[in-house]
Parts: sequence; C-alpha cells; structure tokens
Amino acid sequence: MSNTERVNFGSKLGAILATAGSAVGLGNVWRFPYMAGENGGAAFILIYFGCVLILGLPCMLGEFIIGRHGASNTYRAYSKISGGSSWKYIGFLGVLTGFLITGYYAVVAGWCLQYVFATITGQLHGDPQYFADYFSNFSMDPFMPLFWTLVVIIVTHVVIINGVRGGIEKISKMLMPTLFILLVMMVVAACLLPNASKGIAFLFVPDWGKVTSDVFLGALGQSFYSLSIAMGCICTFASYFSRQTNLIKSALQISALDSLVAILAGLVIFPAAFSVGVQPNSGASLVFITLPNVFQQAFGNQPLIGVIVSLMFYGLLSLAALTSLISLHEVSTAFLYEELHISRKKGALIVTISTLVIGSICSLSLGNWSGLSFFGKPLFEVFDFVTGQIFLPIGGFLTCIFLGWIVPKQVVKDEFTNWGTLKGTFFNFFLFTMRFVCPVCILVIFLHQLGVI
Ligand code: PFF
Repeated sequence: MSNTERVNFGSKLGAILATAGSAVGLGNVWRFPYMAGENGGAAFILIYFGCVLILGLPCMLGEFIIGRHGASNTYRAYSKISGGSSWKYIGFLGVLTGFLITGYYAVVAGWCLQYVFATITGQLHGDPQYFADYFSNFSMDPFMPLFWTLVVIIVTHVVIINGVRGGIEKISKMLMPTLFILLVMMVVAACLLPNASKGIAFLFVPDWGKVTSDVFLGALGQSFYSLSIAMGCICTFASYFSRQTNLIKSALQISALDSLVAILAGLVIFPAAFSVGVQPNSGASLVFITLPNVFQQAFGNQPLIGVIVSLMFYGLLSLAALTSLISLHEVSTAFLYEELHISRKKGALIVTISTLVIGSICSLSLGNWSGLSFFGKPLFEVFDFVTGQIFLPIGGFLTCIFLGWIVPKQVVKDEFTNWGTLKGTFFNFFLFTMRFVCPVCILVIFLHQLGVI
C-alpha cells in the first residue's frame, strides 16, 4: 500500500483488542505480581487502581486524542496538533522511547519462549538452586537468548508486514481471547491448590503497614508502564481508530482489561506460591526462578499437570509479550514509512534489523560482553532505566502540559465524540487532570527516582 493511504482498524472490537494487546504484556504477568509481592499485596493493588483511574486513564485518553486527531505516526500526530511547532519533538521522543524498548523487550520475550521449550523438553526439574543456576546460565549464554530473540522478532516482523488489519488486528483477535482463556484456566488450577486461600488473602486483604511513599511511586510508574503510556504505542494505535470511536469508553475498556489481566496473573502466582510456602517477594526473578520451582512443588504428586500448568503459563507470557512487541514495532515502522516515504515493508525491515542489533547487544551485555556497561550497569539495564525512568516521565509530563495548556481547548474537545450532554463535564475533568494533577504527580516520581526528593 502507498504510504499516503491511511487505514483504520476494521472493527471496534479489533481496535480494543489490539490496543489492549499493547497494554497487556510482561508488565502485567511479570512486573505487577512481583511489585505487589514486594510492596504489601492488596494495599499496593488498591493504590495501583487509584493511579490507573486518576492518572493512567487521563494520560491514555490524552494520547488517544493526539493520535486520532493526527491520523498519522506519533511524531507527525504531535506535529499536526501543535501546528508544526517544537512540541512535535515530544512525539519524536515517544517514537525513540518505543524504539529503544523494542530491543530489550524482545530479549525478555525470547526468555519466555525458552521457558516454553524448557518445559516441553523436561529441563525445569531440580532444587531451588538449580532454577537460579538455570536462569543465570541461560541468560548469560551467548547463543540461546539470541536465537529466541530472533524467533520473536521474525514473528513480529511477519505480523507487521501484513498490515494494520491483516496483521495486527487479526492476530490480536486470536491471541487476546486465547490469553484470557489460558489465564482463567490457570487461576482455577492455582486456586484449587491446598493453602491457596493464603495467596488469595494476600491479594485482597491490604496490609497498610507496608505502604510508604515508595509504594505510591512504584504503583504510579507501574500504571504508566502497564498501560504503555508515553512510548508512542497508544498514540500510534489511536491513529487507526475511526472518528466514531468513543475515546473515553475505549480508554476505560482497555484499562479495565489490563488491570483484570494483572489481577488474574496475581491469582495464579500468589495462591501457587503460598501453597508451597514460598514468599512472592523475590523481585524480578519471580517468574523465571521462583515460579518454575513453585509449579514443580505445587503439582509434585501430579507431574503431568505441573508440566501443563508451566506450559500454559510460559505460553501465555510469550503471547502477552508478543502482542506488546508488535505494538512497539509498529510505532517505529509507522514513523519510518510515513516520514521517509518508503514502503511499509522496507520500514518494517529497518526496524526489525535495528531491533535485532539492539536486542543482541542488550542480551550479550548480561553475559560475554559484560564489559558493555554504563555506570556499572549492563546495557540491558541501562536501556530499561533510560526508557522507563527518564524518557517515559519526561514524555508523559510534557504531553500533559502540551494538552492542558498549549493545544487549543476546542481541538481537544472535538475529540470527545459521542458523549452527548456529558461531553462538557468530562472535558473539564480531563483538562483539570492534564493541567495540574498529572504533571505534578509525574514530576514527583521523576524527581524521587533521581534522588532529588
Ligand atoms: N504495557 C506493556 C507491558 O505491560 O508489558 C509494555 C509496553 C508495551 C510498554 C508497549 C510500552 C509500550 F509502548
């Protein structure tokens, strides 16, 4: 297709599932449970919901407005709504952030596939030390993680070159329901384990004693990450929404689906962990070191069920990662083919190759190339830090200021389509959050992360 024709998602459901596919990812199934585990369980979760409602939702709506108004890639969408002024560079920052994440996100998606493979080939058996060694040997290996990264990126590439409707929308309509079904089946299996109720209580009975300012800031950061905010994805996908789409309703539906998946993932991990007496506060290693051991022990007397559960878990983790990766890839592909006036296929190829290079460097920085570090951190962590802790808050903050104070009110209001008499009320609430609530909160997290406050 020529790069001047613009497609839309073919159906409302397709648009919601594709955007929810971007939001639902490793952040829900991997990051959310360990953050909840470290920060007081239910108390963290309630604060997290508050952050989604008060901050995440308005910011998502803000990106929807810019994306749908521009009907083009994120950089050009910011440029259009700003009348070509320097504010367009926030859009460029979004594209850059999305691009930089794509590489290391593909590496972690590859790890998920390795764990599917390891489950099938019976490698996930041993004592707790075995699982720790297994993960560190694998992630530091120079070849296997690269192989799986390559597999994930090729699959993503194939989806992207099939276009917005034939690729992204079609695959999201297949993968998202599959992911839900797998997740619900796993929740049932985990909640039927002995002592599962302790895990359920951990998830639903708040321990306010653990709540500190760090818990608030962690919940806020997680809500942005989980909803894919400030990384170009939401804006790019909204550019494929039709004029009839009710943006508020869509933002609500997507945030609700995203939060539901996070809670369901918690309902798998916590009951399973508590049933074998493991504390779910082992940080980032929870999914790749603690959980294989938990599954093995929890289903010790029915090893086949243990294998099936492990397979379903890493399968669904891979699917969740894949749908997010597709959206990340699309941000840069749309940018390249619209800005450089090249074909979509060529744009996709450039993104695929550069993602492979970045992914390989990130992966190798954990092992053979450990000399590739910055301030003592492997490049892998540097990418995570720079995108998530620096670019994301800067992009989010500037977007709120831009929408709240710079873009003419009427332009923003015109995007509140299909709200009848409630339009004014919603618009005023949105404007207030964009002007005051969101920028102040984002600034506070940012300064706290930098150790200034
Ligand atoms: N929201 C995704 C997750 O929770 O894993 C991660 C992500 C995807 C972040 C796409 C940013 C993005 F643009």
